[in-house]
Amino acid sequence: MCGIVGYLGRREAVPIVIEGLKRLEYRGYDSAGVALFSDGAIDVVKRVGKVSTLEEALRARGLKATIGIGHTRWATHGAPSEINAHPHLDCRSDIAVIHNGVLENYSSLKKRLLENGHRFVSETDTEVVAHLIEGLYTTGTSLDQAVRLALQQVRGTYGLVVMSRREPDRLIAARRGSPLVLGYADDGYFIASDASALIQHTRKVTYLEDGELAIISRNGIITKTLDDVEVRKAVEEVTFELEQIERGGYDHFMLKEIHEQPETIRNAMRGRLLVEQGEVKLGGLDHVRKKFVQARRIILLGCGTSWHAGLAGEYMLEQIAKIPTEVEYASEFRYRNPVITPDDVVFAISQSGETADTLAALREAKARGATVLGIVNVVGSTIARETEGGVYIHAGPEIGVASTKAFTAQLTVLAMVTLMVARWRNVVGVDQKLLARELASLPEKVARVLSRYDLIKRIAEEFKDGRNFLYLGRGANFPVALEGALKLKEISYIHAEGYPAAEMKHGPIALIDEHMPVVFIVPKDAIYEKVISNIEEVRARRGRIIAIANEDDDQIHKLAEFVIPVPRTYGFFGPIVNVVPLQLLAYSIAVARGTNVDQPRNLAKSVTVE
Ligand code: AGP
Ligand code: GLU
Repeated sequence: MCGIVGYLGRREAVPIVIEGLKRLEYRGYDSAGVALFSDGAIDVVKRVGKVSTLEEALRARGLKATIGIGHTRWATHGAPSEINAHPHLDCRSDIAVIHNGVLENYSSLKKRLLENGHRFVSETDTEVVAHLIEGLYTTGTSLDQAVRLALQQVRGTYGLVVMSRREPDRLIAARRGSPLVLGYADDGYFIASDASALIQHTRKVTYLEDGELAIISRNGIITKTLDDVEVRKAVEEVTFELEQIERGGYDHFMLKEIHEQPETIRNAMRGRLLVEQGEVKLGGLDHVRKKFVQARRIILLGCGTSWHAGLAGEYMLEQIAKIPTEVEYASEFRYRNPVITPDDVVFAISQSGETADTLAALREAKARGATVLGIVNVVGSTIARETEGGVYIHAGPEIGVASTKAFTAQLTVLAMVTLMVARWRNVVGVDQKLLARELASLPEKVARVLSRYDLIKRIAEEFKDGRNFLYLGRGANFPVALEGALKLKEISYIHAEGYPAAEMKHGPIALIDEHMPVVFIVPKDAIYEKVISNIEEVRARRGRIIAIANEDDDQIHKLAEFVIPVPRTYGFFGPIVNVVPLQLLAYSIAVARGTNVDQPRNLAKSVTVE
């Protein structure tokens, strides 16, 4: 996620680009920059932090230009810094590139380019594109041809815009996996990540599709495929208002982020899960491989939803990688004088990378000699910087306070860590290819669950006035029960408890009556019959049952008042799929109750206090 804006026309480019970037800041930013063509050269100004900081720097420079590109960065490769901010240049500062996405094969391309004498200045994947184009942009080759040839060598996702000193009246845009929209006005042409950056200038747009490239000149826009075949694009009228565009047409960021999960789970695996080989490559852990081989145990630290991710990760690590795993509330761990040794590998799990309790806990573990690593979303965050390695979950900015896509991305990373640790420790009996294939199938399975949103909305309508909920699950679905209860609590303000289903008879069953909705996560796994017995116990006490059950379960409909079908997967991967209906249920109940879904009362997105 990041923001891209470009302009070419008769007006001043700087205010158009800066205003456009400000409109795109919701897409996540840690730094920003612009490239302008003025006085025969490409001027690049970049700053860490908010777009307004960049704006002040530009004002001081007083640059004038009628062609310019700008970018707000959400870092994936290389910490937030001025040098890593976009635009990125080639060796001769002839070419400037801004990019949204993740380039999977940038390492091998960079290695080859370095061997060919290119000089790199940043840690980003994006800079590779500028040097690739440079090598292809030879006499007789137009900029759009050089861009097309370069992109044929690239794997991964991009929405990118390129400008060159040699063709100062051209902008070249290309898209694969990251959105780009083109805008048409009488006094110029626009390119942006979404229409929110354009609608103050024009509502006439065309949307680039994957595999398409646009050549923007002062005479208009030509669209082609990467194979140089011209494509006729219909100009559409943007009817959305600004706010709706920022939320991608969804009513809330939380709903948008729930629906992003097939893509964010894919992004977490992108360039890391090699399905055919049944292998996982996590560059941020290679240097501590020996620590994993020698480790006596793994400790997973986190708070809230990240703690739930750790609980689900424990099932994966112990069942597949056969390594003793402990999960700790970071807020407890930091004060209980834990027994930690250099044989311990500790993961700090955190979406924001700024949670004070988790940061303190990892410092405690590090001080006691453990190997401390991160599973973090925000690149360059404090937790990411204080660990000695780790894995970014690549979920993009999570704006809704209630964590959803970060949770499933954390679980996806934990699943890949599990496969890698099992391989490193030569665990027998693990069919890596089979597990890798199942992991790769999860985005489509999550998409299937999302298609049941209307059913879930109807169930929410039935229970929106509930005062208490119980969420029950066994095994890896116990953390799912906890997460489902937390989602409901934090956005609908209804009290809810997650419990191991077997534990209900040790007390909570006293709560069951005809007013108590009980959500069971009951996939057809090895303990299915046990959970069915628990369901019977609740039925006998007139509890109202909502079951998250497999699509091929023909028994559950006789037992549960409502059933939300989910595709089957392996038990330890189940939380990635089974949590999604609970996210939608909590969201739908909260909307029905009229609470502030994206910013619930009393909560903060990142708890940076103790
Ligand atoms: C989850 O929906 C909550 N927003 C909260 O529990 C959150 O998971 C917790 O504060 C940890 O945040 P972190 O992942 O950014 O460290
Ligand atoms: N992968 C690029 C980087 O880390 C682009 C990230 C983005 O989409 O902002 O700089």
